[in-house]
This record gives sequence, structure tokens and C-alpha cells, in this order.
Amino acid sequence: MADTEKFRLRRFVERLVQMGECEVREQPIDLVDVAGVLDGNPRATHLRAAGPERAELVGNVMGSRRRLAIALDTDETGLLPTLAKRLSHPHKPVKVSAKDAPVQEVVLTGKDADLCALPIHLQHSEDGAPYISASLDFSVFPATGYTNVGCRRMMLRGSHNAGIDLIAPSDLRVIYLDAVARREKLPIAFAVGSHPADFMAAVSATQPTDEFEVMGAVRGASVPIVKCVSNDVHVPADAEYVIEGFLDANGHTEPEGPFGEYVGYYGVVKTNPVFHLTAITRRKDALFQTVTIGGRHLARTDTAQVTTVKTESAAWAALVTSVREPLAVYATPSSGGMYNVRVSLRQRVPGEARNAIAAVFGSMAEAKHVFVFDEDIDVFSDEQVDWAMATRCQGDRDMIVAGGFRVVPLDPSLAGARTGAKVGFDCTIPFGKRAALEWGIPAPPVLPQRARTKSVVDSLAEEPASFLELMAAAGSRDGREIVRELDALYATNRLARNESGRYVLKNGGAT
Ligand SMILES: Cc1cc2nc3c(=O)[nH]c(=O)nc-3n(C[C@H](O)[C@H](O)[C@H](O)COP(=O)(O)O)c2cc1C
Repeated sequence: MADTEKFRLRRFVERLVQMGECEVREQPIDLVDVAGVLDGNPRATHLRAAGPERAELVGNVMGSRRRLAIALDTDETGLLPTLAKRLSHPHKPVKVSAKDAPVQEVVLTGKDADLCALPIHLQHSEDGAPYISASLDFSVFPATGYTNVGCRRMMLRGSHNAGIDLIAPSDLRVIYLDAVARREKLPIAFAVGSHPADFMAAVSATQPTDEFEVMGAVRGASVPIVKCVSNDVHVPADAEYVIEGFLDANGHTEPEGPFGEYVGYYGVVKTNPVFHLTAITRRKDALFQTVTIGGRHLARTDTAQVTTVKTESAAWAALVTSVREPLAVYATPSSGGMYNVRVSLRQRVPGEARNAIAAVFGSMAEAKHVFVFDEDIDVFSDEQVDWAMATRCQGDRDMIVAGGFRVVPLDPSLAGARTGAKVGFDCTIPFGKRAALEWGIPAPPVLPQRARTKSVVDSLAEEPASFLELMAAAGSRDGREIVRELDALYATNRLARNESGRYVLKNGGAT
């Protein structure tokens, strides 16, 4: 029997609570106050009594890299390698019957299915209406029968209708426009309340495959799926809620938005398709989910963190074919998880840093500023990155600035332009210069364990030595007695320094 508990959102949230990553609020909360509790909150929040129905609602589940890493049983730096490894092992889904599908424990159709009965809250002050934000969509590629999975928000238009944002290039957009061209409506279903692995799969799956296999890959286990009650689309049987229906055949006709977007600013009203509800199914003790998106605290939003995964996967795929030894990539969540991308690599030949910049430019429209560092820089450390940018980069020599790229129209700095600029910063030490003292990185002295007792003169008679090497040779753990010996040598004009600053004896030490 398929395990329908292991990847249940509620089980993951319980784990986060145990780890101190999720706060639980028992006290009742009005829906209008939900966004305020989540905005900028470093922790996930489980609200046990949201709205007058006292519904259970969880937000910010994926609002940190740590929590995404926990979902894949790894740590922050292991997130991308783990995901990349898992993505190369697809798992076919397993069909389960309706009676074995927890998400169909409660089935509501017709008038009983009501979007306004769900705890859907207004997320930002200028939003066009409350949005369902944690909605993973499932639809079918007609030519292959494969299921497409994405993540798309839904703006409530009433109890049975919602606007969906389908402007950006995507598989769902292609599937829908084909249906519209045939004057057909498109059956679709949305899961609300999903394990983070499912979100990561939804944004990572870009090849035309059965994306349930990608979801299985990211989970590391087959996804139990069940046919919807009101159409032929399949959905994860272990989701918390499923919202079934269709996009009508009218195409992009209705206003949707404004909405506090994932670039941190409002997106304006767009003309978008309309979703029509046919059924809501759910677990008996279903846990509704909301995700954080726009605003000042992008780094703590679910959306930026999940987008980080998408950007890094795309950048990594491009890097492994363009440079010999890429080491790490990090799309900063504070840039929306996409605009600022940091790469570290071990340069084997001159120019590889620039190749890396070019590769990341092309890997995703969203990648806008690319920073490339040597292997000694931890791309996850703002301090180290700032230092390397300040000291290893010359603006007139190490920057690549180019325009005319495909970009994300939501970027307000484009001022309406359809194409935009990308900038690369080569913050690597000039090739072949790593060993030079001026690129050496000062660190506290470490004496070799073995103590010896050579005088300064005897040491220097053998070879030039640095101050620390003289201390080591003399077995000194103080240093000042070495200075005294040097003093005597200076006084008798027997001491000099070579180019690297090492002490040498003049004339072999003869007085
Ligand atoms: C939380 C979240 C919400 C998203 N909402 C939308 C959306 O409303 N419209 C959209 O076009 N893309 C949205 N995206 C991005 C798409 O889900 C993503 O591009 C996905 O890969 C599209 O899948 P598809 O090409 O298989 O259809 C969202 C991503 C996340 C993480």
C-alpha cells in the first residue's frame, strides 16, 4: 500500500515545530491579520484558529533555506547537490483508488463546493482580492497524456470562480492556449497543502515529461496519485486539499491583480483566464496552506526560497557544461531568489570566470547579476562575498555589462522595456597570482608541534627564513628573544631581507 502520510504537509509541519522552526498560535485570528503575522517572520507559523470557522492554516513553511533543506533531509549547502542528485532518479507515480486517497476523505461538489468557505486571506493591502497562494496546478499535455505541474496563484472572483495568472511563458500557458485554439475548456486541479518537495518539483520540472515522475524524484519516492472526482486529471492523493475545475475557453479576458509580486513590488492588473470550480476534496483534518510572496522581507518568503531552487538548478546545469570545476551556486533570496546569482569555481584556465558569467546569463531570464568567486569564498556568506567584491574586482576590467536580454517584465527598473541588461562581476584573483604574497590571506601564526633549539644565526646560515620560521627553528613560543637576536645581527651589519621579506645573512654571516 502506498504511504500517504510520509509526504503529508501536516507531518512536515509537526517536524518543524519539534525543531523550533515553526510557531503554533492557538488563539483565534481574523483573516485580515494573517499576513501581518507572516510578513518577515523568520519562522513558519501554524495558526490553529483562523477566521470565524477556526480553520487550520499554515504559512511560511518554506520561508528559509534551512526548512527547504530539512524537507530533503540535508543542510543549507547540501540543498542543491541533493536536489540535483534526486532529479536524476525519477520515480513513476502509483495510482490509488478514491477510498485509499486521504485527500478525498471529504468530497464537496455543486453548491457545497465553495471557495469562500476556505481560509483564504488578503495578503497585501493593494491586492485585487484574497488569493490562494500555495496552489500547485495539475493539467494534462493532450499529445502525451503526461501531467504538467506548476505553481500558480488564484485570485478569488466569487465562490466558484478565480482568476489565474498565466502571462509568463510556461507549459501550462502552452497547454491552455492550445485548448483555447480548439475552443475547448481545460480541465485542471490545484493541490493546496503540499510538502515542500512538491513545490521544488513544480518549479524544477521544465522538460516535457510526466512531471509526477519529477515530483517522485524530488521526494525520493513514488507519488501516490488519484483521479479527481469531477474530471480526469490526477492529483497527489496525500495533499491536504484539492480544488478541481476548468479554465474556460475564453482565453485571457478578465482582469487579475494587482498582487504583491515576488520581485518585492506590486504587479499591476493583468488580463488573465478564469478558473471555474467543480469540486473541492480534502482530508478530514485538512491543513490549509498560504505562502508569503512580496514585500520588504523577500529573503523570508516561501516564494523567493523556492525560486532560489529553480534558479540554482538552471544555473548549475549551465555551469557544469561551461566550466571545468564549478563548486557552488547561490541565488540570494533577498534578490527574489533569482536576480543576484553567486558562483564559486576553481579556475583551471584563464577566462573561466567569464565563461561562468556567460553561462548563468543564458540559463534563466531571471538571472540578472552574476558574481563569480574563487574556491576560497563561501558564496553563502555575505561577509566573504562583500570582501571579495571589494578587493578582487576592478570595475573597468572585471565587469561584463550587456543589454538586450530576455528578462522578467515584472522588474520595475526596466521602466517598461521588453529586454534588459545583465551584469557579470569577475571577483576572482587574477589567474596564476594566487601564490603571490599580495594575494596571500593573513591568518594567525601556527607553530609546528616539534620544538627545536636552533639559534637565529644557525637557521639563517642554512636558508632564508621568515620570522615565524625562525621562531619555529628556535622552539620559541614567545618571539621577543628572536627580535633580540635579530637586533644583535643588525648591530653588526650582518642582517638583510630578501624580496619575499625573509631574513638572510649578509656575506654568509661573516662579521
Ligand atoms: C509560490 C509560487 C507562485 C507562483 N505563481 C505563479 C503564477 O501565478 N503564475 C506564473 O506564471 N508562474 C508562477 N510561478 C512560477 C511557476 O510555477 C513556474 O514557472 C513553473 O515552473 C511553471 O510550470 P510549467 O512551465 O510546468 O507550467 C510561481 C512560483 C512559485 C514558487
